[in-house]
Amino acid sequence: MTTSQAILEIQRTFDINAIYAHKVFSLADKENLIEDAARIIAEKPKPFVKWVGGKRQLLLQFKEMNLYPPDNFNPSTGTYFEPFVGGGAVFFDLLPREAILSDLNKELIATYNVIKNNVEKLISSLKKHQNDKEYFLEMRAKNVSKLSDIEIASRFIFLNRTCFNGLYRVNSKGGFNVPFGSYQNPIICAEDNLRKVSKELQGTEIKHQDYKEVLKDAKNGDFIYFDPPYYPINKTSSFTSYTSEAFLEKEQIELRDVCVELHKRGCFVMLSNSDTPFINKIYSGIKDVNISKVKAGRAINSKGSGRGKITEVLVTNY
Ligand SMILES: C[S@@+](CC[C@H](N)C(=O)[O-])C[C@H]1O[C@@H](n2cnc3c(N)ncnc32)[C@H](O)[C@@H]1O
Repeated sequence: MTTSQAILEIQRTFDINAIYAHKVFSLADKENLIEDAARIIAEKPKPFVKWVGGKRQLLLQFKEMNLYPPDNFNPSTGTYFEPFVGGGAVFFDLLPREAILSDLNKELIATYNVIKNNVEKLISSLKKHQNDKEYFLEMRAKNVSKLSDIEIASRFIFLNRTCFNGLYRVNSKGGFNVPFGSYQNPIICAEDNLRKVSKELQGTEIKHQDYKEVLKDAKNGDFIYFDPPYYPINKTSSFTSYTSEAFLEKEQIELRDVCVELHKRGCFVMLSNSDTPFINKIYSGIKDVNISKVKAGRAINSKGSGRGKITEVLVTNY
C-alpha cells in the first residue's frame, strides 16, 4: 500500500477529514496501522472552552458539501491559519501538522499559551476554584492587569465553565460581564483533555494579534479559515462583543479585501458569515469565489411564522 492509499484508508475507516488522517498516519505504527490509528483517534483533544459561534455542528455540513478541507491543500507542506480562533473548533477537528492560531482576545490567547507551556500549574490552580455565586462574582471582578498569566488562564477557564451559557461578552471597558450560570456540576478542570491539548499545541504558534497580520505570513498553498464576528442579521441580533472592538460594514469589507489578497497569492481561503444581503453582495462577482449556504443549528425564533433554521454562508475560493 502506498502512503496516500494508507491515509485514505484511515480517513474512510474512521470517517475523519483528510488533514487529520494525514496526521494520524504520520504518528501511527506502520506495522499495525489501523489498530494504532484507532488508539490515536480515541485520544484526540477537544476544544477547552465553550465559545459562541463555535463551528462544531457545522463541520459535518462543510464536509458533506465537499468544501472542507480543500482537496488540494497539502498538509505536509502547507500551513493552516485560524486568525479568529475563538474556541478553535475547526483547528481541533483538523489538527494540522503546522498551524498558526490567533485572536484579538488577549485573555483567550494567554490561556492557549499557558496550556501550551505550563499546563500542570494551570491544572493545580483550576482545582482550587469553587462553583458558587459569590466566589464567581469575586473572580469576575478581579483586575486582570494585576494577575500572572497562569492566574489569567485559570480565571478565564473558570468563568467560561461557570458563567451563563459559556458566553464571552465584555463591556466597553473590556470587563467581562456575563452572569453566573448556576450549573449543578460544571467541569472546571478537565485535566486529561488539557494535557492532550497542551501536547497538541507544541507544534503550533499562538499569537495575540489582529487577523490582518495573516498577510505577513501566509504563502501560496496555505489554508486560511476565517470565522469572524458575523455581520448582524437584523438590528437587534448584533453580537459583536467578543472584544470591545466593533465588526460592522467597514470591517467586513476590509476582511473581504484580505481574502482577495490571499486568493491572489494562491492560498486556500474559507470564510463563514451570516447569510445577509450585505455579505452576499460583498463576496459576489469575484472570480473563482463560491458562496454556499449552510443551515446553522440556531432557530430564528421559537414562536409563530418565524420558526425555521437560520442559514449561514460559507465562502471558498476553491
Ligand atoms: C465567531 S468567533 C470565532 C469562533 C470560533 N471559530 C470557534 O469555533 O469557537 C470570532 C472571534 O474573533 C475574534 N476577533 C474579533 N475581532 C478580531 C480581529 N480584528 N482580529 C482577530 N480576532 C478578532 C473574537 O475575539 C472571537 O474569538
